[in-house]
Amino acid sequence: MSTHEDTRRAWDEANRKHVREDAALLEEARTARLLPVEESLLMPLLSGARVLHPQSGHGLDDHALLRLGAASVHGLDYSPTAVGAAARRAQELGAACTYEVAELPATGLPAGGADLVYTGKGALIWLEDLPAWAAEMHRLLRPGGHLFLLEAHPLIPLWDWDPAEARVRRDRSYFAASHVNDTFPAGGATEHQRTLAQLVMCVLDAGFELLHLAEHPEPFWMPEDEDPAAAWDGRLPNTISLLARRG
Ligand SMILES: C[S@@+](CC[C@H](N)C(=O)[O-])C[C@H]1O[C@@H](n2cnc3c(N)ncnc32)[C@H](O)[C@@H]1O
Repeated sequence: MSTHEDTRRAWDEANRKHVREDAALLEEARTARLLPVEESLLMPLLSGARVLHPQSGHGLDDHALLRLGAASVHGLDYSPTAVGAAARRAQELGAACTYEVAELPATGLPAGGADLVYTGKGALIWLEDLPAWAAEMHRLLRPGGHLFLLEAHPLIPLWDWDPAEARVRRDRSYFAASHVNDTFPAGGATEHQRTLAQLVMCVLDAGFELLHLAEHPEPFWMPEDEDPAAAWDGRLPNTISLLARRG
């Protein structure tokens, strides 16, 4: 099994893509939009909001959040390469986004400074201690602030990528605590699983009130150079959206 440090290095390496594709990402950032489900849930919360984006990656969503009315977005990622590329992009566009290298679940940021935590799209699977993450998200939000997640459905690790037939992988279990990643960003990295119930209970146990939870057939990400898997054809869950309020 890979170590935590192997995974961090694999991500920093994978995030060099954001540097190689800098010109294209800069253009994408100018017009980036959130998914329709994100827009409809977040629109009422974004006017003047101070948004925190843990595991911000390429940060394109940060520009979409600003366009919808957020006052500022602060991105956190443990990859200096991702943070550097996203910060340069924000500077180039004169956008109110700032970025910082930080390793979740602990962030070192002051308590109560965020109106909204926006995260997901391949974030939670890398975190071993989800209760610690949920507690930190609660600490970072002001009372009444919101936690929003658009994330891979916990069943995703089970779907085979066969384009011809939707199948469950024989080497995976919904109830396993972890599995080894054999695709992106680097084969061999450990991913941490939890069931949908475990994720929801973790958020509730941290002191959040659940406002919205939905399952969606569309994946939030597909590999660019492969045929789409039959498991993504609209019959199976591939994404979840979750909105919770800090009590
Ligand atoms: C799949 S990317 C998704 C990022 C973002 N949502 C996006 O769409 O670009 C996951 C990101 O999480 C970061 N990451 C993974 N584990 C982390 C941790 N423990 N602390 C901080 N960042 C982490 C990686 O460096 C990577 O940039």
